[in-house]
Amino acid sequence: MIAKPSEERLLIALQKKGRLADDSFALLKACGLRFAIRGGGLLARVKNMPVDLLLVRDDDIPSFVSNDAADIGIVGENVLVEEQLTGELDAQIAMRLGFSRCRLCLAAPERGTVQSADDLSSTRIATTYPGVTRRFLSERGIDAKLVEMKGAVELAPSIGVAESICDLVSSGATLEANGLAAFETILESEAVLIRSTRALPAAKADLLDKLLRRIEGVTTSSGSKYIMLNAPKAEVDAISALLPGSDAPTVMPLAGRDDMVAVQAVCTETVFWETLEDLKALGARAILVLPIEKLMS
Ligand code: PRP
Ligand code: ZN
Repeated sequence: MIAKPSEERLLIALQKKGRLADDSFALLKACGLRFAIRGGGLLARVKNMPVDLLLVRDDDIPSFVSNDAADIGIVGENVLVEEQLTGELDAQIAMRLGFSRCRLCLAAPERGTVQSADDLSSTRIATTYPGVTRRFLSERGIDAKLVEMKGAVELAPSIGVAESICDLVSSGATLEANGLAAFETILESEAVLIRSTRALPAAKADLLDKLLRRIEGVTTSSGSKYIMLNAPKAEVDAISALLPGSDAPTVMPLAGRDDMVAVQAVCTETVFWETLEDLKALGARAILVLPIEKLMS
């Protein structure tokens, strides 16, 4: 039996192990939470903030948040949507986290009888996502039979229990290893932070706000770079236009040079080698690209 969350400590439900676990722990650590995960433990205490981590199976996270067994949770959107479609839940997305991106796809043997959604009528689809699959079928008016499984769905066609499958695809390696090809994406997913619609006690609500602001800072800064370069005065506008995802670069005089200025900017989008080559072609020199550790706007 899991104790109800205390009034003071924010309880975050997280996947114990699996596709989201490591990235979730890394995100919380980047937000300044200090904790250690020991094998087998259900609860991890954060040392420097009034926060506890509840380590559970991903499928349980939405209902824990809904039932007040945890204040918030981090879970794959695929799991959230599936649980929303198969039960009554008070759990919604508070913030998208951008990691653990994957797709829920329909897939079938490369040269089998099912090659597209049009071929699904009267066939069997194996899945661990009956809710999302059923929603897709009813939206398309397709009458097919679901074979609900607990795992190893990719084996269903070869052992003859279904003509196609509906499963998560990330790198695509599992499909390929089983001679399957995806023919339809029915849900795009990423890690999301979820909460219920109920109000939290004031202290916890403040803590959650603080955490959300820190997560924003971590996620915006992770792809961001600080660019410094020297540019011909005449090309400053053209050069600024090339800097990806920066709005107002800082332009400063360079001692002893009337024709050149120093330009500095935060780029919130990926800076490719091609961008640097284009900058150089416009006369930019001494181009430095620096990582940004934290960013708060
Ligand atoms: C999912 C899915 C596939 C695999 C796909 O399983 O069921 O087996 O990941 O990933 P890939 O495209 O990179 O090969 P997951 O690891 O989430 O475990 P689960 O099936 O036990 O939930
Ligand atoms: Zn799972």
